[in-house]
Amino acid sequence: MFPKNAWYVACTPDEIDGGKPLGRTVCNEKIVFYRGEGGRVAAVEDFCPHRGAPLSLGRVCNGQLVCGYHGLAMGCEGKTISMPGQRVQGFPTIRAYPAVERHGFVWVWPGDAEQADPAAIHHLEWADRPDWAYGGGLYHVQADYRLMVDNLMDLTHETYVHAGSIGQKEIDEAPVITKADGEHVVTSRFMDNVLAPPFWRANLRGAGLPDDQPVDRWQVCRFVPPSHVMIEVGVALAGHGGLQADAKYKASSIVVDFITPETETSMWYFWGMARNFNVADAALTAEIRDGQARVFAEDTQMLEAQQRNLSAHPKRRLLMLNIDAGGVQARRIIDRLAARERPTHVVA
Ligand code: FES
Ligand SMILES: [Fe+2]
Repeated sequence: MFPKNAWYVACTPDEIDGGKPLGRTVCNEKIVFYRGEGGRVAAVEDFCPHRGAPLSLGRVCNGQLVCGYHGLAMGCEGKTISMPGQRVQGFPTIRAYPAVERHGFVWVWPGDAEQADPAAIHHLEWADRPDWAYGGGLYHVQADYRLMVDNLMDLTHETYVHAGSIGQKEIDEAPVITKADGEHVVTSRFMDNVLAPPFWRANLRGAGLPDDQPVDRWQVCRFVPPSHVMIEVGVALAGHGGLQADAKYKASSIVVDFITPETETSMWYFWGMARNFNVADAALTAEIRDGQARVFAEDTQMLEAQQRNLSAHPKRRLLMLNIDAGGVQARRIIDRLAARERPTHVVA
């Protein structure tokens, strides 16, 4: 269950560079992404109107998507342009999807194209700024995307799932505060005067700060529809104001999570971290990305096992504890958006 009238991250630009089309299912829509005329991002149904071959098995030639079966050339708007030895005027049009390249990602609108407004694409204030650095990756996860929303809106699991990197017992002990803010949900946790776990000790060193002193640590998770979670995370040398501390006392960043449903039980998980300290240090960017990759692989493993259990026992009732409030509220917003898209039945 997912709203389709929304902008989702479909891929990163490098996935469609080099003249290769990319076949990717988003919200159950089989789509092929490629660079059309002038390098502009295009997205059309992954279905050749000739005999139904996936167009993603073809290639891109002068901005046209050429089917790998019999050479039909498809245009960005879903209209056949040519086919060797054929007149193509009467060929049916295939569906084209609104797609935009922005902030270092390719975004797609898998729902009603009429409603797609690029101005509504999630704004990333750091994306085009030279004083910020970003590194990230993509995992294909066999689980309902809402399990990832739950996971990111409740970081209690860090103590258990990520014991060797970002977990620490104080996470369990610090109360979590969940607040709905319009269509956003914010879950915050503050841990004062604790020792930094290994991932954050490395970041303190990366920021040129001592890694053996007590710190104030914070996690502020923000859910933004349809399924994006941005998490302000960081540590500051204890007693300097935590999240509000002057930049010279802290290592802080934004964990970026774009969670794109593929099917009901699988997702494309775009993860990364944006930081505004030591931004020119490419080795630090790589180190952070490798650390995150390990952390998120741990989540992925847990979620896929959880999904297998849930699929085997679809009727089992699950608990809703206070730590689950962030995910519960986020799911309510997702439900509301999806309900708006269902046709209303008029009772005569
Ligand atoms: S199936 Fe695509 S050209 Fe024949
Ligand atoms: Fe996690």
